[in-house]
Amino acid sequence: MHFAEHIGANPGRSGHPLAKEAARVVQSTRDNLARLFNVSDSSRIVFALNVTEALNAVFHGHLNKGDHVIATDMEHNSVLRPLVHLQEAGFIDLDIAPCDRKGFLDIDALTRLLRPRTRLVALNHASNVCGTLQDVAAVRDAIADVPLLLDTAQTAGHFPIDAKALGIDFLAFTGHKGLLGPQGTGGLYVREGIELRPFKRGGTGSQSDELHQPEFMPDRMEAGTQNNVGIAGLGAAVGYILEQGVENIRRHEEMLTAAFLKGIWDTYSVAVYGPLDASRQVATISLTFDSTLLEESGQSLRCGSINLAWLEDDVSVEQADGRLSDEYDILIRAGLHCAPLAHKALGTFPEGTVRVSMGCFNTLEDVEVAVRAVKRIAAAR
Ligand SMILES: Cc1ncc(COP(=O)(O)O)c(C=O)c1O
Repeated sequence: MHFAEHIGANPGRSGHPLAKEAARVVQSTRDNLARLFNVSDSSRIVFALNVTEALNAVFHGHLNKGDHVIATDMEHNSVLRPLVHLQEAGFIDLDIAPCDRKGFLDIDALTRLLRPRTRLVALNHASNVCGTLQDVAAVRDAIADVPLLLDTAQTAGHFPIDAKALGIDFLAFTGHKGLLGPQGTGGLYVREGIELRPFKRGGTGSQSDELHQPEFMPDRMEAGTQNNVGIAGLGAAVGYILEQGVENIRRHEEMLTAAFLKGIWDTYSVAVYGPLDASRQVATISLTFDSTLLEESGQSLRCGSINLAWLEDDVSVEQADGRLSDEYDILIRAGLHCAPLAHKALGTFPEGTVRVSMGCFNTLEDVEVAVRAVKRIAAAR
C-alpha cells in the first residue's frame, strides 16, 4: 500500500528521489529473501510472476537439446507440463523418479535413472497434495554434481531452507503462499557459477546504450518493469517471517499438523494420505471420505477402521469441499491439486483428495473446529 500510494516510481529508470526509494525497496526485498534462503549474493535472486514462471526460466534457460532431465511423481504441473512439452518436442529426454505411497522419493530409483547426459533434477521440496517433505540433502548426495532445481512453493516461509548448505543450484519460490506476499510475485535463486539464457529480453534501465541484454544479474533475467508494488509487499511479508523466525513458524505449524492428525486419527472411514508424521511433512494434509478407493488401491495408510456399512454411501471430495465451506466456513481445496502423478503414487487418482492446510496464523482452536467438521461429515454419511 505504501509503495502504491507514496512511491510508485520505476527503480533504476530515473535518478529522482522516488525512483531511488523504489530501488531501495526492491533491493530490500531481495536482501530479505537472501537472508531467508541463506544466499550470500542477493543479486543471484531474480523476481518473477510466480514459481511457475521461475521454473520455466530454468527449463528454457538452462536445458540444451539432447539433455536428460529427471523429475518426480510428486511434481506439480508447473514442472511436469513444461518438461513433457520439451520432451514431446524432441528437445529433452525425461524420466520420472517414483515416490512411495507416503509420497517419499525413492532415492535409489532416482540414482538408477541418472545418465551422463542428465543436466537437471527437479524436486518438489514438499508435496502440495500430502505435505511429504523430501530429504534434499540425500538427493544432493545421490546426484553428485548434477544441477538440482528445488520447487519451494510449499516450503518457503514454512520450513527453514539453506540454499548454500543444501547445494541447491536453482531455488524457485512463489510469493503468495508461505511467504505471505501478494499474488503475482515469486522468483528464482540461481547459484553463482551458473548462467541462464534469459527467456525474455528488453529494457532494464542499465547499459541502455547496448543492444544486448546485460550479462550481469539480476538485470540479465529481469527485462521490463517488474511487479514492484507486489515486490514491496513481498519484502514486507518476508521481513515479518524473518522477525518471527522461520524455525518458530515451522514449530507452530508442525504442532498444528500433529494436533489435526491426532484429532482425526480414530475417525471411521476417513483416510489420510502422506507421512502421517508431522515431523516429516508440512501442514498440508490430504483426506478422502471414500473407503472403496482405498480398498481398490490397496491403500493402507488410512486412519481408523472402515465401516463396511458405509461403503455404498461415500462422500465425494467435491461434496466434502462444499460442506466444509458452506456449513463450517472452512476453505479447503478438493480434487487433483494440479499434481496428477502424485495421486497415482498415493492411489487417489482420478478422484483426488480433500486437502486441508494450515498456516502460521492458524490456532489450535481452528484445528479443533476442523477436526469436528471432518468427524461430522464422516459420521453423517
Ligand atoms: C509445489 C507447487 N509448485 C508449483 C506451484 C505453482 O504455483 P504458482 O501458481 O504460484 O506458480 C504450486 C501451487 O499450487 C505448488 O504447490
